[in-house]
Amino acid sequence: MFEEMDHSGDGGIHGQLLQNNGFQGTSLGMTAYAPVGNVTISQDKSKSVSNSITSSLKVAVPNGVTDYVGFANTGYKGVPALAATYKSSFWMMGRYSGTINLQLIGSQSGIVYADHNMTVKSTDSKFTEFKTSFNATHSPDGENEWHLTFDGSKVGGSSLNFGYIQLFPPTFNGRENGLRDDIASFLDEVNPAFLRFPGGNNIEGLQVDSRWMWNTTIGPVVDRPGRESDWFYPNTDALGLDEYLWWCEDMNMAPLLGIWAGKSYGDIISGPDLEPFVEDIMNEMEYLFGDSSTHYGKMRIENGRKDPWKVEYVEIGNEDDLTGGCESYPDRFNQIYKAIHDKYPDVKFVASNGDFSCLPSPLPKNVIIDLHLYRKPDDFVKLFNQFDNQPRDQPVMIGEYGARNTSSAEGIYWPYMQGSCSEAVYMMGMERNSDIVKMAAYAPLLEHFDFVSWSPTLYGFNSTPNSITPSTSYFVQKMFASNKGDTIVPVHTTADFGPVYWVASKTDSSYYLKLANYAKDPQTVQVRIPGTKTGRLEMLSSPQYHGNTPFNVQVQTVTTSVFNPSGNYSINMDPWAVAVLAVS
Ligand code: AHR
Repeated sequence: MFEEMDHSGDGGIHGQLLQNNGFQGTSLGMTAYAPVGNVTISQDKSKSVSNSITSSLKVAVPNGVTDYVGFANTGYKGVPALAATYKSSFWMMGRYSGTINLQLIGSQSGIVYADHNMTVKSTDSKFTEFKTSFNATHSPDGENEWHLTFDGSKVGGSSLNFGYIQLFPPTFNGRENGLRDDIASFLDEVNPAFLRFPGGNNIEGLQVDSRWMWNTTIGPVVDRPGRESDWFYPNTDALGLDEYLWWCEDMNMAPLLGIWAGKSYGDIISGPDLEPFVEDIMNEMEYLFGDSSTHYGKMRIENGRKDPWKVEYVEIGNEDDLTGGCESYPDRFNQIYKAIHDKYPDVKFVASNGDFSCLPSPLPKNVIIDLHLYRKPDDFVKLFNQFDNQPRDQPVMIGEYGARNTSSAEGIYWPYMQGSCSEAVYMMGMERNSDIVKMAAYAPLLEHFDFVSWSPTLYGFNSTPNSITPSTSYFVQKMFASNKGDTIVPVHTTADFGPVYWVASKTDSSYYLKLANYAKDPQTVQVRIPGTKTGRLEMLSSPQYHGNTPFNVQVQTVTTSVFNPSGNYSINMDPWAVAVLAVS
């Protein structure tokens, strides 16, 4: 489950590295900019780069300057300098013909990791875009900034304006405006099956007008205005609808698209007032599915996607059982469901909550309900049998879950072994009931360690190269997602569930036994799987309150080979360990 929070997207998985690059939103001012040399820099609201990017950076140069001068952008608390080829671009206005110098340079150290000259010719009548690429070398830390300088002697007594600056390291699958390769590859290794996006709270908006709006997140990035988000910083929306869908295709994930359904934190829109918004949703659907004869289908093709997108699942809203949404949700749901279902009968729907007093009655058949659970570890374990006696005709998604203490004052605030073990136990309860539990997503996914408003997350990073830090929960997700049978098989045991929990599944060729020891004492588990003899044991274990901490990865899955001609395996489980035995 992905939403823009903790700079998970801007400054995170989205590849663009410069912060406040289009002066979007209302709260950043001059954040991340600094003068280089004897110049004055300011946000210039009188010179718009486009209709959407309505400010630019004015660099005023006094008379008598002879040096190269310009400005720095300090990125998202630093700019990672990797031994890689970077792409950079910027818009420029003002009379200048000559060299522009770009550097990646240590903020304190002054060490230059990239130094690149390019020749430009810009005029004072309009903004012109310039693009270039250059090689950089690896920096030991992320305390670097991007510098753009020009020959001050040619501009003395005047000024130049710069706008919508961009800097990209290599992107995942080499996509333009793509994902940062290292952060995206790390997710790909988990083998995710679907992506729920773009929120979460962030779809809802603090006010109706600041909701996530699909149509302002498409097309050239310079035409995307961005917005003040629900998570305390402006979103650039450079990671927009099409980018999310390319991301899904590149990682072979089914997209689960959240759509705005009338609830913001400021106001709720329902009844006839919702109709224009339903029309907007239908435009979004046409953008996804329409052919070239349709207005929005044509727009999608112009934006680089010829074939209709394959969006199988649509979720109507987010957490409409909360923040005043309950009473009106049944009607809002029905209004939107009917409009989409009538025209696109193959779309599968997710309702944004599981409280039947906030859902239509009856809920249309096959609509999946979405439960969100952030619980303490013991509470997850108590929910191991949550789905055992649920009606078998009501499909469920756990659209968000993660073990979490309820406040940072309670201590550990980043996944630790006991919490990750409890998630494993809860997931076994889901897997045992996978006839009704169709999908599940740990949340939130990602955090930039220097911009945290919500923790824990599955993994984190900051501007230091190689700073990606997987949590213990990352490894649980990876173990479980990578070892899936297609049939749950019965397990005959001499013990009851607790403290050891298990679930077994198989495919035509392999058996998978998942185990968790939610206890302070070790356990030995004797397993017999007739007809099997060889495979592997994946084991994640660590003391109760231990886990990985930013930049300090001590706990990770250890894989060993197993072999026994009679299919007997002895598995030593440390306290709080999670294991998968995969044999054939
Ligand atoms: O995942 C963090 C937040 O938790 C989500 O935005 C919201 O849906 C939930 O309340």
